[in-house]
Amino acid sequence: MDALLIEGPSKLSGKVEVSGSKNSALPLLFASILFDGKVTFENIPRLWDIETTLKLLELMGCRTEWEKEVGRVSVFPEVKTKVAPYDQVKKMRAGILALGPLVAKYGEAKVSLPGGCAIGARPVNYHIEALRKMGVRVEVEEGYIHASVKDKLVGTEILFPEVTVTGTENLLYVGVMAEGTTVLQNSACEPEVVALGEFLKSCGANISGLGTPTITIEGGGLKLPSQPVQIPPDRIEAGTWVSISLATRSPLEINHCDASKMTSVLAAFRQMGAKIEERNQGTTLKVTPAEIYHPLHIETAPYPGFPTDMQAQILTLLCLAQGRSTVVESIFENRFMHVAELRRLGAQIEVNGNVATVEGPVEFQGAPIMATDLRASACLVLAGLTSKGSTRVSRLYHLDRGYQRLDEKLRRLGAKITRVAE
Ligand code: EPZ
Repeated sequence: MDALLIEGPSKLSGKVEVSGSKNSALPLLFASILFDGKVTFENIPRLWDIETTLKLLELMGCRTEWEKEVGRVSVFPEVKTKVAPYDQVKKMRAGILALGPLVAKYGEAKVSLPGGCAIGARPVNYHIEALRKMGVRVEVEEGYIHASVKDKLVGTEILFPEVTVTGTENLLYVGVMAEGTTVLQNSACEPEVVALGEFLKSCGANISGLGTPTITIEGGGLKLPSQPVQIPPDRIEAGTWVSISLATRSPLEINHCDASKMTSVLAAFRQMGAKIEERNQGTTLKVTPAEIYHPLHIETAPYPGFPTDMQAQILTLLCLAQGRSTVVESIFENRFMHVAELRRLGAQIEVNGNVATVEGPVEFQGAPIMATDLRASACLVLAGLTSKGSTRVSRLYHLDRGYQRLDEKLRRLGAKITRVAE
């Protein structure tokens, strides 16, 4: 596994381009299972999770082509085995997104339980309960979900006990192929869910309420997409770049964004004192750091609330604010592992249950630290860039799962950062 060596503090300057959204690309790639012909995708980011998704599709019998340089992927969904095996799903929990399309298109699926990950148990009970309500027989045996449609998928009303992004996505796949009307109550409003729904609508699906807590789907099947599917920009990567600009006090121009999907994140940074101009219909962010950052009280929440995937980044930034901040992690039960690593750099953070209390400002001192989960690894790079001296961030696999060569983009902006094999 690789590690990053960072000499700080780093002053950056210039422009950076945000890559395609991982959490949009994954559900869209799995949606190709619903079709009988080639589906082409553009602006696919170069990430380990994309590698794993294409491997899963190939194990099912699909042919895939990935032109990495231009970010184009084509999937020929000739599915033969309706199985998503453990050795792939354990690497990427989003493998659970094979379940909905296989059941919807082929009436059967054998998908490994994803298992937990660093940030929590990550159960999929809401997915299973909803499928059962749609007429799917679901048994969980020996670490696998065995699903089969008894006679046909029948639309019904589903109430999710808690907002679930991939749970909503799995039921979108099934609803478009079911008979009758499916109503998803307390469904996720995340832009990645809307992007999947809009794609399915462009293929003839009858869906209303995308982006609201109530989505209504009239079953009726799909027609092959007539043009390549464009992956939207990654709003979490964009937010991460804003936090890097503010922490290193380096004005940056961030391109290929969609500011309209970042309102809660931009509002928080502006409340801290950042100046962020939105240009070119919100596809460009011009970020100007402040000398003094104000402390905040932040609570993560489902969209349009403050995203849990940005919690580690803003927690790191709040270490530089003047005064006491509090960050409440309301989505996952164990998403503060980065705090112990940040403390090694000098952070003053206390965690009590799902509340982190931060005293600032502190001056980070470089030290060896370890990445734990995908988004937290970005906050450690951010802290390393801000620290005095050398920081070594190990277990970089986590970072490469979710960010397209973040170190290369940082080097181009002037960061003293090198990748070494561990
Ligand atoms: C998606 O995960 C994202 N992943 C996560 O991003 C993101 O952090 C999360 O949504 C929340 O926004 C992808 O889209 C591939 P949930 P997902 O189902 O769908 C509980 C990243 O870094 N729950 O919305 O797995 C669950 O434990 C990743 O890219 C159940 O209890 O999250 C959590 O506490 C990390 N039972 C809460 O609901 C279920 O059946 C929200 O989870 C499903 C979820």
